[in-house]
Amino acid sequence: MTFFSRHWSTYRQVLEHDLMEHGALTAALTGTIDGWLEQRGPGAPAPHALDLGCGDLSLLPPLLRRLPLASFTGIDLNGAVLPLAGEALGPVPYPCRFLEGDLLAWAEAEPEGPPMDLLLSSFAVHHLQEPDKGRFLRGCRRRIAPGGLLLWADVFRAPGESRDTYVDRYSARVHSWSPLEPERQEEVIAHLSQWDHPADPETIVKEAEAAGWRWQWGWRGQHRAEALAVLRPVQQGRP
Ligand SMILES: C[S@@+](CC[C@H](N)C(=O)[O-])C[C@H]1O[C@@H](n2cnc3c(N)ncnc32)[C@H](O)[C@@H]1O
Repeated sequence: MTFFSRHWSTYRQVLEHDLMEHGALTAALTGTIDGWLEQRGPGAPAPHALDLGCGDLSLLPPLLRRLPLASFTGIDLNGAVLPLAGEALGPVPYPCRFLEGDLLAWAEAEPEGPPMDLLLSSFAVHHLQEPDKGRFLRGCRRRIAPGGLLLWADVFRAPGESRDTYVDRYSARVHSWSPLEPERQEEVIAHLSQWDHPADPETIVKEAEAAGWRWQWGWRGQHRAEALAVLRPVQQGRP
């Protein structure tokens, strides 16, 4: 087994056993998108959607197959997951593409084509270090269409918690993930200790608001870590 397939099969086990609460998160995300579409009304143009750090699309395919989209784009740094995403989605009645690329680079690139109406990112932005999460939010704010929506699902620290305390707390939780064999638990811990930089929730809300977003928590998991942030662009001259 290659490093990639071993790593990805561990992540699939985490999903299958709902160890990161993907089920409740996806239900909240689905409800938020359905409410947003209803608010836009049936006469609104079909939205362009983009998933930043799409992986293999996780639990999104059933939702994506029924959304009335104008287009869907998935971007991931790891080109090896993109065929898995395409296979998981299957045929859809709108143009769809999967691109290898960096989510921060996308956010900061000069916009080309129509602005995005619906931006999704799930368990990817926490890989960015501290100043880069603010850059990501500022970049996405430039690239979102008026009336659009950014749904940011991720792990966050508890307010005021240090990264080290977070890593210790999350690692203790991984040790309780009995469906994973101990060797895989250690691999998850090694990965998160090296790569995870979850945002402090109070600091990042302030950064988002300064960048022109209105922030709401759409869902918060049971462990003071997984959560869904719902960000709407503030339009000048409107509350
Ligand atoms: C934990 S997986 C999440 C996959 C999927 N979005 C989900 O919710 O299950 C994180 C994904 O983010 C991707 N990723 C991490 N950093 C990235 C970056 N800077 N740009 C694009 N993708 C990134 C990884 O390659 C991986 O596929």
